[in-house]
Amino acid sequence: MTDTKTAELSATRIETLIVGEEARFRAARPRSADLLQRARRVMPRGVPSSFQDSPPQPVYLDRGQGSRVWDVDGNEYVDFHNGFGVMVVGHAHPLVVAAISRQAGRGTHFAQPVEDDIVVAEELARRFGLPQWRFTNSGTESTLDAVRIARGATGRDLLVKIEASYHGHHDALMVSVEPPPDQMGPADHPASVPSSGGIPKAVADLTLVVPFNDLAALSRMLEAHPGQIAGVIVEPAMMNIGFVLPDPGYLAGVADLTHRHGAVLIFDEVKTGLTLAPGGATERFGVTPDLVCLAKAMGGGVPCGAVGGRQEVMQVVEDGEVAQMGTFNGNPLTMAAARATLLEVLTPDAYEHLDTLAGTMRDGLQQVIAEHRLPFHVTAIMARGCVTYRAEPVRNYRDYLQVDKRVAYLSWLYQCNRGVLMAPGAEENWTLSVQHQAADCQRYVDNLAQLAQDLRS
Ligand SMILES: Cc1ncc(COP(=O)(O)O)c(C=O)c1O
Repeated sequence: MTDTKTAELSATRIETLIVGEEARFRAARPRSADLLQRARRVMPRGVPSSFQDSPPQPVYLDRGQGSRVWDVDGNEYVDFHNGFGVMVVGHAHPLVVAAISRQAGRGTHFAQPVEDDIVVAEELARRFGLPQWRFTNSGTESTLDAVRIARGATGRDLLVKIEASYHGHHDALMVSVEPPPDQMGPADHPASVPSSGGIPKAVADLTLVVPFNDLAALSRMLEAHPGQIAGVIVEPAMMNIGFVLPDPGYLAGVADLTHRHGAVLIFDEVKTGLTLAPGGATERFGVTPDLVCLAKAMGGGVPCGAVGGRQEVMQVVEDGEVAQMGTFNGNPLTMAAARATLLEVLTPDAYEHLDTLAGTMRDGLQQVIAEHRLPFHVTAIMARGCVTYRAEPVRNYRDYLQVDKRVAYLSWLYQCNRGVLMAPGAEENWTLSVQHQAADCQRYVDNLAQLAQDLRS
């Protein structure tokens, strides 16, 4: 009989390999290092967004084409980072380039409605089964607006979010995103911990926190605050602690409980929308919420966002009771790119291609993991997936805390030093694009095989 049990990894071996890989990383990126020094004089941490600062140092990029990007030192990478999950169309897709170029020559901003707004809203309504849409410019704005709509529609103040879900950087939801173990509270009743300086405790206290995949905890929370909870916001598959799927029946249970307590169910589909299925997690898992938040992939690489909802919930915007607005909302450049992305690039054939690639990744990686008896597992659906550096499944944040972050970092270094760019951090996942091919996936699999060999030697 084959021994299918995983074998422990040596912590000393991991640290030795990290030292070697960091040296190799730095030796190949002198120009990135120079730019970082220069950038530090004008930008805190040398980057425009703190997410872009990751060890050993940020990689400054020069250009992208298809499934590849090139850094300022001339290193080429297969891009699975894809701009934190935005570039499902791949880089410089000819149809997106054509749409943006056409619109750039006809005017990039009016702050007046254009026909493309309607075309994009109609297509999103078709995909998500929700009739009414408004536009924003980022995922943060989408969840901010959804929360306000939920509060306006119910006349209530409290929110419920899932422990460790990230919904953007506004105050109401930047609560318990990665709470430190000494502050996070008991597993079945997590604390509301502000995730940044500058967030008033009074604001964080309006956001209650429950664990993912735990209907009993949600039920208790709703029961404890009768008539006070405006909305429950859930990322239907958690994508900021790796890739954590909902238990069968969990989302339907969340919808049922939320509605029984007169609250609004919000799905944050900023990452899952358009990537797990044409109609996102809503379609994939067969549960339609009251509000859906989109951003990232819908704009084909330009800043974008949208909130969609049921007629009766969006009525507060229709009536003017809730303010939903912004100078750049429905910007013609964004809408031209979104129209091309949704109608010309992310077609049924494209989803079939993504599904095939996901299978290539899953099968190849599972084979490597089994062969080397690694304490890892793989989750992959369509454009999204990840290796989780833990043998047992992860169902929530407390499980995720058991993931070996040092192996995750070593794995990132191995990929980066061997021509694959991944989003940094154990919490991140890969994004495939319609322009990736099986050979791109194979490079990732081969790199993991190399890591496995080195860990075991
Ligand atoms: C699930 C989710 N919601 C919201 C956001 C915020 O989006 P943005 O960075 O466009 O503001 C993110 C960003 O990664 C996200 O992953």
